[in-house]
Amino acid sequence: MNIGLITSGGDAPGMNACVRAVVRSAINNDISVYGFYRGYEGILDNDFVKMDASSVGQIIQRGGTILKTARSKRFFEAENRKLAFENLKKNNIDALVVIGGDGSFTGAKLLSSETGMVVVGVPGTIDNDLYGTDFTIGYDTAINTVVEAVDKIRDTAMSHDRVFVVEVMGRDAGFIALRSGIAVGAEAILVPETTTYIEHLLERLQTRRESKSSVIVIVAEGDDFGGAQDVAEAIKNRYANFDVKVTKLGHIQRGGNPSAMDRVLASFLGAGAVEAVLEGKSGIMVGMEHKKVVHVPFEKAIKHHQQIDGNLLKLAEMLSV
Ligand code: F6P
Repeated sequence: MNIGLITSGGDAPGMNACVRAVVRSAINNDISVYGFYRGYEGILDNDFVKMDASSVGQIIQRGGTILKTARSKRFFEAENRKLAFENLKKNNIDALVVIGGDGSFTGAKLLSSETGMVVVGVPGTIDNDLYGTDFTIGYDTAINTVVEAVDKIRDTAMSHDRVFVVEVMGRDAGFIALRSGIAVGAEAILVPETTTYIEHLLERLQTRRESKSSVIVIVAEGDDFGGAQDVAEAIKNRYANFDVKVTKLGHIQRGGNPSAMDRVLASFLGAGAVEAVLEGKSGIMVGMEHKKVVHVPFEKAIKHHQQIDGNLLKLAEMLSV
């Protein structure tokens, strides 16, 4: 049996650990693994390499992905998905394992339903926005990166009595903002899943300011009011006496050595994907819920976007007095 393997969409720390787990657990089951470069692009271009146990040596600790990744525009077209299927068959690939996020799984779902290709997904995205897994690979590392950066910002914010508006990643999801915001003791957290009432925020900031020397506002990039710059402008317009600064953390959130949590999760899920293929599963994502490996249809994983935890939002607000 031959498995094709890709990493697709935005890279996430822990993708390499997952590649290693897929390759080594496949070899353990006498299955060969072919890694295609740059996600679906590599399948369309027949750009692949046969992987062995040593080709994934010394990568468990490395960020990024040795298979490289891409957001393939060509894969949006049905005729290209057919071409991908033909390429996979020509190269004797029996099953494809896709490590990626919701965009990659949308492609995976179509490939499997349109062509009958066996496709199994592993959640690899810093956004943690997939239904059917408690955490996605890369999320833990990303929030630790945010926490490390904002702790440093807090030091200087306190010294200068400043307000900092910090923008974190999350085009459609506020999970990074919410967890890291709680961890740094942010005075306010703005997420795309809830409406931002700017008046409410400004009033709260005034009371926070009265009792504290520094204020940190964490804004997910997809917040409905706008990005950190827009929020900072609104604060400056209302309170001319506040010294307001903006920091956009950007792509540092996607890099770095994966945390122990991400390495272990990636190892479980990579091995779980090979097991799922052996069990004849297809059209599913392998997730981890309550410490158990579960199988979730792509349809559900993508559409039933994981809900933001209202209790965590309340907790953050209560603790930031
Ligand atoms: O999907 C992960 C993610 O990091 C989002 O949070 C972010 O909005 C996006 O990728 C950025 O993507 P790119 O690197 O393609 O600009």
